[in-house]
Amino acid sequence: MAYFFSEPSRTFSEYLLVPGYSSAECIPANVSLKTPVVKYRRGEEPALTMNVPMVSAVMQAVSGEQMGIALAKEGGIAFIYVSQPIEQQAEMVRRVKNYKAGFVISDSNLRLGDTLADVLALKERTGHSTMAVTDDGTGTGKLLGLVTSRDYRVSRMDPATPVSEFMTPAEKIVSAPEGTSLKAANDIIWDHKLNALPIVSAGGHLVSFVFRKDYDSHKGNPLELLDSQKRYVVGAGINSRDYEERVPALVEAGADVLVIDSSEGYSEWQKRTLAWIRSRYGDTVKVGAGNVVDGEGFRFLADCGADFVKVGIGGGSICITRETKGIGRGQATAVIDVAAERDRYFAETGVYVPICADGGIVQDYHITLALAMGADFCMLGRYFSRFDESPTSKVLIGGSYMKEYWGEGSARARNWQRYDLGGAAKLSFEEGVDSYVPYAGKLSDGMATTLSKVRSTMCNCGALTIPELREKAKLTLVSSVSIVEGGAHDVLLKDTTNSGNQRS
Ligand code: IMP
Repeated sequence: MAYFFSEPSRTFSEYLLVPGYSSAECIPANVSLKTPVVKYRRGEEPALTMNVPMVSAVMQAVSGEQMGIALAKEGGIAFIYVSQPIEQQAEMVRRVKNYKAGFVISDSNLRLGDTLADVLALKERTGHSTMAVTDDGTGTGKLLGLVTSRDYRVSRMDPATPVSEFMTPAEKIVSAPEGTSLKAANDIIWDHKLNALPIVSAGGHLVSFVFRKDYDSHKGNPLELLDSQKRYVVGAGINSRDYEERVPALVEAGADVLVIDSSEGYSEWQKRTLAWIRSRYGDTVKVGAGNVVDGEGFRFLADCGADFVKVGIGGGSICITRETKGIGRGQATAVIDVAAERDRYFAETGVYVPICADGGIVQDYHITLALAMGADFCMLGRYFSRFDESPTSKVLIGGSYMKEYWGEGSARARNWQRYDLGGAAKLSFEEGVDSYVPYAGKLSDGMATTLSKVRSTMCNCGALTIPELREKAKLTLVSSVSIVEGGAHDVLLKDTTNSGNQRS
């Protein structure tokens, strides 16, 4: 007979934290959000930790190289999306690893044949006014010229004018050779009154830009996540199909941690993938697995050798898995159940396997709830897709700026490997939608607000660390009526953009 769980499955919004005693030391400045990413034995240190409990989703609309750099700067990890050719994904990883603060890889590039109309469209999409003209239209092609807003006048020029007619050609550009220090680059910028200095290889290929404003505003990032060679830490998604080619390419590119990206992880496919990685690399390659939503699924993946386990089916904002297939579980219940199994597993084996709450984080406080319920860190898609650093277009809709955000299971992403149960060349139905999310500016600003809320709530619970929060948290279910009471109510709001009930 079928098994019935005795409790309904619940989501984060059905819970609140009840404050505990806060001592005088319990202030946000004293809170540490450090958390393990990969498994470790009792008494040992994990091989990889993060300084904030947030990772970005393995999605085309979320995690490219810009996200990798920006999130590592803030202390978290981006998982570069897997639904792209292996070499392209490895190149993104390489770019994060090779990134040097102040040296920006150009993401607004043109070819000689492009027109003023293309320049304007690119500016609208990226918001950048300095564009490189390269032979192949990439940020590392041979540098042929530069276009800035000083080079054209929209009101006087035909939109069909080719860039070759108004760009500053390469021979007139002040540039610096590869290997120039940031200090020397800054001196050149000042001496020549430049806004941007291209760094060019011996063969004439663009390497990066140094911008005047970046140098001015460059300040320390106290939480930034660096490897032993002081390079940013970055993750990458893999699938259970082409791992024999993809994993070596990503490892060679310098990925610090991998994760099997799948909508449903309690499967022989994940077992085979993990076994292959362990047989080839032992424990040197770190790899998470998932997704699961109960203790049984967690134990299976932990026994298969996963370094961490991802929790969540059907809770993602763009996800329609529950509607289309009828599988899933309320995300709060899934996290609570898996966390309990993780603790039992630790007690039995002495091995602590961190868990990641993936999907369904809508309010900032949901992160705190997930941590209180036992998650070691959270994976977010929608949240990160709203920032400048996500790879998608910024578009103006009805007077407001939006960013595009689509699911990996949508026809747009065509990431069928994520849903493939073997045999099928492609999936015959979608599990995700294509959507817009409100544009939210710079990632560093957004995360600063979110994490200050997390720290503040932890203090209300008397906790200065994530393990302490888990130990001290008192959670209460809320009735549907008290949810209404939780928002602004029975008043006429003057400014609806500041209702306190805004989604982050
Ligand atoms: P969000 O943070 O609520 O937007 O959820 C992001 C998570 O949704 C990802 O990390 C994935 O686990 C999951 N996801 C991504 N694309 C799809 C899809 O097309 N269908 C279902 N789930 C998806």
